[in-house]
Amino acid sequence: MTIQKVMVIGAGQMGAGIAQVCAQSGYDVLLHDANQQGLDKGMEGIRKRLTRAVEKSRINEHEKQDTLDRLKPAIEIQDVSQCDMAIEAIVENMDVKANVFRELDANAPAHAILATNTSSLPITEIAATTNRPDQVIGMHFMNPVPVMKLVEIIRGLQTSDATYKKVEEMATALSKTSVEVDDAPGFAANRILMPMINEAIFAVHEGVASVEDVDTVMKLGMNHPMGPLTLADFIGLDTCLYIMEVLHDGYKDSKYRPCPLLRKYVNAGWLGKKSGRGFYQYES
Ligand code: NAI
Repeated sequence: MTIQKVMVIGAGQMGAGIAQVCAQSGYDVLLHDANQQGLDKGMEGIRKRLTRAVEKSRINEHEKQDTLDRLKPAIEIQDVSQCDMAIEAIVENMDVKANVFRELDANAPAHAILATNTSSLPITEIAATTNRPDQVIGMHFMNPVPVMKLVEIIRGLQTSDATYKKVEEMATALSKTSVEVDDAPGFAANRILMPMINEAIFAVHEGVASVEDVDTVMKLGMNHPMGPLTLADFIGLDTCLYIMEVLHDGYKDSKYRPCPLLRKYVNAGWLGKKSGRGFYQYES
Protein backbone atom coordinates (compact mmCIF):
# COMPACT_ATOMS: atom_id res chain seq x y z
CA MET A 1 0.00 0.00 0.00
CA THR A 2 1.35 3.42 -0.91
CA ILE A 3 0.00 6.57 0.65
CA GLN A 4 -1.76 8.67 -1.99
CA LYS A 5 -4.64 10.39 -0.30
CA VAL A 6 -4.42 12.09 3.10
CA MET A 7 -7.02 13.71 5.33
CA VAL A 8 -5.75 16.52 7.56
CA ILE A 9 -8.07 17.16 10.51
CA GLY A 10 -7.95 20.70 11.88
CA ALA A 11 -7.41 23.64 9.52
CA GLY A 12 -5.67 25.94 12.04
CA GLN A 13 -2.06 27.16 12.11
CA MET A 14 -0.58 23.68 11.92
CA GLY A 15 -3.22 21.72 9.97
CA ALA A 16 -3.38 24.22 7.11
CA GLY A 17 0.43 24.15 6.88
CA ILE A 18 0.50 20.34 6.88
CA ALA A 19 -2.23 20.18 4.20
CA GLN A 20 -0.31 22.68 2.05
CA VAL A 21 2.99 20.79 2.29
CA CYS A 22 1.27 17.45 1.53
CA ALA A 23 -0.51 18.90 -1.55
CA GLN A 24 2.71 20.59 -2.75
CA SER A 25 4.47 17.23 -2.47
CA GLY A 26 1.95 15.47 -4.74
CA TYR A 27 -0.50 13.94 -2.24
CA ASP A 28 -4.25 14.32 -2.72
CA VAL A 29 -5.48 16.08 0.40
CA LEU A 30 -8.83 16.48 2.12
CA LEU A 31 -8.73 19.25 4.71
CA HIS A 32 -11.36 18.88 7.43
CA ASP A 33 -12.34 21.16 10.30
CA ALA A 34 -15.29 20.96 12.69
CA ASN A 35 -15.83 24.65 12.13
CA GLN A 36 -16.78 25.94 8.64
CA GLN A 37 -15.17 29.33 9.32
CA GLY A 38 -11.97 27.61 10.46
CA LEU A 39 -11.97 25.56 7.28
CA ASP A 40 -12.50 28.61 5.04
CA LYS A 41 -9.75 30.49 6.88
CA GLY A 42 -7.35 27.56 6.53
CA MET A 43 -8.02 27.22 2.77
CA GLU A 44 -7.67 30.98 2.27
CA GLY A 45 -4.38 31.03 4.17
CA ILE A 46 -2.98 28.31 1.89
CA ARG A 47 -4.08 30.23 -1.24
CA LYS A 48 -2.41 33.39 0.07
CA ARG A 49 0.85 31.62 0.94
CA LEU A 50 0.99 29.99 -2.50
CA THR A 51 0.31 33.34 -4.21
CA ARG A 52 3.14 34.90 -2.19
CA ALA A 53 5.42 32.00 -3.17
CA VAL A 54 4.63 32.69 -6.88
CA GLU A 55 5.33 36.41 -6.40
CA LYS A 56 8.69 35.56 -4.85
CA SER A 57 9.41 33.08 -7.70
CA ARG A 58 9.74 30.16 -5.30
CA ILE A 59 7.10 28.27 -7.30
CA ASN A 60 5.43 29.01 -10.65
CA GLU A 61 1.74 29.60 -11.39
CA HIS A 62 1.37 26.07 -12.76
CA GLU A 63 2.72 24.53 -9.52
CA LYS A 64 0.38 26.72 -7.47
CA GLN A 65 -2.62 25.57 -9.50
CA ASP A 66 -1.57 21.91 -9.32
CA THR A 67 -1.30 22.19 -5.55
CA LEU A 68 -4.74 23.78 -5.23
CA ASP A 69 -6.24 21.13 -7.54
CA ARG A 70 -4.98 18.40 -5.20
CA LEU A 71 -6.47 20.07 -2.13
CA LYS A 72 -10.18 19.82 -1.26
CA PRO A 73 -12.12 20.96 1.80
CA ALA A 74 -14.07 18.18 3.52
CA ILE A 75 -17.07 19.00 5.66
CA GLU A 76 -17.52 15.43 6.88
CA ILE A 77 -14.83 13.58 8.80
CA GLN A 78 -16.40 10.37 7.45
CA ASP A 79 -14.74 11.20 4.09
CA VAL A 80 -11.60 9.71 5.65
CA SER A 81 -13.04 6.49 4.17
CA GLN A 82 -11.34 7.57 0.89
CA CYS A 83 -7.93 8.09 2.50
CA ASP A 84 -4.77 6.05 3.14
CA MET A 85 -3.71 8.27 6.00
CA ALA A 86 -5.09 10.85 8.44
CA ILE A 87 -3.02 13.52 10.18
CA GLU A 88 -4.80 15.10 13.13
CA ALA A 89 -3.93 18.71 14.11
CA ILE A 90 -6.83 19.85 16.29
CA VAL A 91 -6.90 21.45 19.73
CA GLU A 92 -4.42 20.05 22.30
CA ASN A 93 -7.00 18.29 24.46
CA MET A 94 -6.99 14.55 25.14
CA ASP A 95 -10.77 14.09 25.30
CA VAL A 96 -11.37 15.96 22.04
CA LYS A 97 -8.54 14.10 20.30
CA ALA A 98 -9.84 10.75 21.61
CA ASN A 99 -13.28 11.43 20.08
CA VAL A 100 -11.72 12.31 16.74
CA PHE A 101 -9.53 9.18 16.77
CA ARG A 102 -12.57 6.98 17.52
CA GLU A 103 -14.33 8.59 14.55
CA LEU A 104 -11.31 8.15 12.29
CA ASP A 105 -10.87 4.53 13.36
CA ALA A 106 -14.52 3.77 12.64
CA ASN A 107 -14.44 5.31 9.15
CA ALA A 108 -10.92 4.97 7.73
CA PRO A 109 -10.03 1.95 5.57
CA ALA A 110 -8.35 -0.90 7.50
CA HIS A 111 -4.94 -0.14 5.96
CA ALA A 112 -4.98 3.59 6.86
CA ILE A 113 -2.40 5.07 9.23
CA LEU A 114 -3.69 7.53 11.84
CA ALA A 115 -1.12 10.17 12.84
CA THR A 116 -1.30 12.98 15.39
CA ASN A 117 0.59 16.27 15.40
CA THR A 118 0.22 16.62 19.18
CA SER A 119 3.04 18.58 20.83
CA SER A 120 2.76 16.82 24.17
CA LEU A 121 -0.02 14.25 24.61
CA PRO A 122 0.98 10.56 24.92
CA ILE A 123 0.76 8.72 21.58
CA THR A 124 0.19 5.42 23.41
CA GLU A 125 -2.94 6.82 25.08
CA ILE A 126 -4.30 8.25 21.80
CA ALA A 127 -3.60 4.91 20.08
CA ALA A 128 -5.48 3.04 22.81
CA THR A 129 -8.71 4.78 21.81
CA THR A 130 -8.60 2.92 18.46
CA ASN A 131 -8.73 -0.70 17.35
CA ARG A 132 -5.50 -0.24 15.37
CA PRO A 133 -2.87 0.96 17.90
CA ASP A 134 -0.13 -0.52 15.69
CA GLN A 135 -1.13 1.99 12.96
CA VAL A 136 -1.20 5.07 15.20
CA ILE A 137 1.86 7.32 15.39
CA GLY A 138 3.02 10.84 16.28
CA MET A 139 4.06 13.08 13.42
CA HIS A 140 5.14 16.31 15.12
CA PHE A 141 5.70 19.10 12.61
CA MET A 142 7.25 22.42 13.60
CA ASN A 143 5.65 25.85 13.13
CA PRO A 144 5.47 27.26 10.42
CA VAL A 145 5.16 23.90 8.69
CA PRO A 146 6.04 25.03 5.12
CA VAL A 147 9.32 26.53 6.40
CA MET A 148 10.59 24.28 9.19
CA LYS A 149 12.51 21.17 8.14
CA LEU A 150 12.05 18.95 11.19
CA VAL A 151 9.46 16.28 11.90
CA GLU A 152 9.63 14.27 15.12
CA ILE A 153 8.21 10.82 14.50
CA ILE A 154 6.99 9.38 17.78
CA ARG A 155 6.37 5.71 18.29
CA GLY A 156 3.62 4.72 20.69
CA LEU A 157 4.10 1.51 22.68
CA GLN A 158 2.35 -0.56 19.99
CA THR A 159 3.32 1.34 16.82
CA SER A 160 4.53 -1.23 14.27
CA ASP A 161 7.79 -1.01 12.35
CA ALA A 162 5.78 -1.02 9.09
CA THR A 163 3.83 2.07 10.23
CA TYR A 164 7.03 3.83 11.32
CA LYS A 165 8.71 3.10 7.97
CA LYS A 166 5.75 4.42 5.92
CA VAL A 167 5.64 7.64 7.95
CA GLU A 168 9.42 8.07 7.72
CA GLU A 169 9.17 7.70 3.92
CA MET A 170 6.35 10.21 3.84
CA ALA A 171 8.36 12.77 5.85
CA THR A 172 11.15 12.42 3.28
CA ALA A 173 8.63 12.84 0.44
CA LEU A 174 7.53 16.09 2.13
CA SER A 175 11.20 17.24 2.00
CA LYS A 176 11.44 17.10 5.78
CA THR A 177 14.17 15.60 7.95
CA SER A 178 12.74 13.23 10.52
CA VAL A 179 14.03 11.94 13.82
CA GLU A 180 12.76 8.91 15.71
CA VAL A 181 11.60 9.74 19.21
CA ASP A 182 10.18 7.66 22.03
CA ASP A 183 6.77 8.43 23.52
CA ALA A 184 8.05 10.40 26.54
CA PRO A 185 6.69 13.69 27.98
CA GLY A 186 7.61 16.62 25.72
CA PHE A 187 9.11 14.15 23.19
CA ALA A 188 12.59 15.54 22.32
CA ALA A 189 12.00 19.03 20.88
CA ASN A 190 9.88 20.43 23.68
CA ARG A 191 11.79 18.61 26.42
CA ILE A 192 14.87 20.58 25.39
CA LEU A 193 13.30 23.85 24.23
CA MET A 194 10.74 24.50 26.96
CA PRO A 195 13.06 24.25 30.00
CA MET A 196 15.35 26.74 28.22
CA ILE A 197 12.45 29.15 27.71
CA ASN A 198 11.30 28.59 31.30
CA GLU A 199 14.83 29.30 32.58
CA ALA A 200 14.95 32.51 30.53
CA ILE A 201 11.69 33.55 32.23
CA PHE A 202 13.21 32.73 35.65
CA ALA A 203 16.19 34.95 34.78
CA VAL A 204 13.78 37.86 34.18
CA HIS A 205 11.65 36.94 37.22
CA GLU A 206 14.69 36.97 39.52
CA GLY A 207 16.04 40.22 38.08
CA VAL A 208 19.16 38.65 36.56
CA ALA A 209 18.66 40.52 33.27
CA SER A 210 15.96 42.39 31.37
CA VAL A 211 13.71 40.76 28.75
CA GLU A 212 15.65 42.40 25.91
CA ASP A 213 19.02 41.48 27.41
CA VAL A 214 18.09 37.82 27.95
CA ASP A 215 17.12 37.64 24.27
CA THR A 216 20.32 39.42 23.24
CA VAL A 217 22.42 36.95 25.26
CA MET A 218 20.98 34.00 23.38
CA LYS A 219 20.98 35.67 19.95
CA LEU A 220 24.47 37.16 19.97
CA GLY A 221 26.06 34.86 22.52
CA MET A 222 24.68 31.53 21.33
CA ASN A 223 23.81 32.39 17.73
CA HIS A 224 20.12 31.57 18.17
CA PRO A 225 18.11 33.21 15.37
CA MET A 226 15.53 34.44 17.89
CA GLY A 227 15.74 35.06 21.66
CA PRO A 228 13.85 32.61 23.93
CA LEU A 229 11.35 35.23 25.15
CA THR A 230 10.53 36.36 21.61
CA LEU A 231 10.10 32.70 20.70
CA ALA A 232 7.86 32.11 23.74
CA ASP A 233 5.64 35.00 22.60
CA PHE A 234 5.40 33.42 19.13
CA ILE A 235 4.57 29.96 20.44
CA GLY A 236 1.99 31.35 22.91
CA LEU A 237 2.64 31.63 26.65
CA ASP A 238 -0.38 29.43 27.41
CA THR A 239 1.12 26.68 25.22
CA CYS A 240 4.51 27.09 26.95
CA LEU A 241 2.87 26.78 30.37
CA TYR A 242 0.85 23.77 29.25
CA ILE A 243 3.94 21.95 28.00
CA MET A 244 5.92 22.77 31.19
CA GLU A 245 3.05 21.27 33.17
CA VAL A 246 3.16 18.13 31.01
CA LEU A 247 6.93 17.83 31.70
CA HIS A 248 6.53 18.53 35.43
CA ASP A 249 3.66 16.10 35.74
CA GLY A 250 5.32 13.44 33.58
CA TYR A 251 8.77 13.42 35.21
CA LYS A 252 7.78 14.58 38.74
CA ASP A 253 11.06 16.50 38.79
CA SER A 254 11.17 20.02 40.24
CA LYS A 255 13.56 21.16 37.50
CA TYR A 256 10.50 21.33 35.23
CA ARG A 257 8.40 23.55 37.57
CA PRO A 258 6.86 26.38 35.52
CA CYS A 259 8.17 29.83 36.44
CA PRO A 260 5.57 31.78 38.52
CA LEU A 261 6.00 34.75 36.16
CA LEU A 262 4.90 32.58 33.21
CA ARG A 263 1.80 31.53 35.12
CA LYS A 264 1.10 35.14 36.14
CA TYR A 265 1.24 36.34 32.52
CA VAL A 266 -1.07 33.55 31.35
CA ASN A 267 -3.53 34.33 34.16
CA ALA A 268 -3.49 37.98 33.10
CA GLY A 269 -4.33 37.00 29.51
CA TRP A 270 -0.85 37.98 28.28
CA LEU A 271 -0.48 35.06 25.90
CA GLY A 272 2.17 36.50 23.59
CA LYS A 273 1.82 37.70 20.01
CA LYS A 274 -1.68 36.27 19.51
CA SER A 275 -3.12 38.39 22.37
CA GLY A 276 -1.06 41.50 21.59
CA ARG A 277 0.97 41.30 24.81
CA GLY A 278 3.47 38.86 26.26
CA PHE A 279 7.09 39.63 27.09
CA TYR A 280 6.80 42.23 24.33
CA GLN A 281 3.93 44.37 23.10
CA TYR A 282 2.51 43.86 19.58
CA GLU A 283 0.36 45.97 17.33
CA SER A 284 -3.13 44.44 17.16
P1 NAI B 1 -5.26 26.05 16.09
O1 NAI B 1 -6.08 26.51 17.22
O2 NAI B 1 -4.62 27.05 15.18
O3 NAI B 1 -6.14 25.07 15.14
C1 NAI B 1 -6.94 24.02 15.63
C2 NAI B 1 -8.07 23.78 14.64
O4 NAI B 1 -8.71 22.57 15.00
C3 NAI B 1 -9.15 24.89 14.63
O5 NAI B 1 -9.36 25.33 13.30
C4 NAI B 1 -10.38 24.20 15.20
O6 NAI B 1 -11.61 24.66 14.64
C5 NAI B 1 -10.13 22.74 14.82
N1 NAI B 1 -10.81 21.76 15.67
C6 NAI B 1 -10.97 21.80 17.01
N2 NAI B 1 -11.64 20.69 17.42
C7 NAI B 1 -11.91 19.98 16.30
C8 NAI B 1 -12.57 18.73 16.07
N3 NAI B 1 -13.11 18.03 17.07
N4 NAI B 1 -12.65 18.27 14.79
C9 NAI B 1 -12.12 18.99 13.77
N5 NAI B 1 -11.50 20.16 13.94
C10 NAI B 1 -11.39 20.64 15.19
O7 NAI B 1 -4.16 25.05 16.72
P2 NAI B 1 -2.68 24.69 16.19
O8 NAI B 1 -1.70 25.66 16.75
O9 NAI B 1 -2.76 24.48 14.72
O10 NAI B 1 -2.40 23.31 16.95
C11 NAI B 1 -2.99 22.10 16.51
C12 NAI B 1 -2.22 20.93 17.08
O11 NAI B 1 -0.85 21.01 16.68
C13 NAI B 1 -2.20 20.85 18.61
O12 NAI B 1 -2.22 19.50 18.99
C14 NAI B 1 -0.85 21.48 18.97
O13 NAI B 1 -0.36 21.05 20.21
C15 NAI B 1 0.01 20.98 17.82
N6 NAI B 1 1.20 21.77 17.53
C16 NAI B 1 1.16 23.16 17.57
C17 NAI B 1 2.31 23.89 17.30
C18 NAI B 1 2.27 25.40 17.33
O14 NAI B 1 3.36 26.02 17.32
N7 NAI B 1 1.11 26.02 17.34
C19 NAI B 1 3.58 23.23 16.94
C20 NAI B 1 3.49 21.79 16.84
C21 NAI B 1 2.34 21.10 17.15
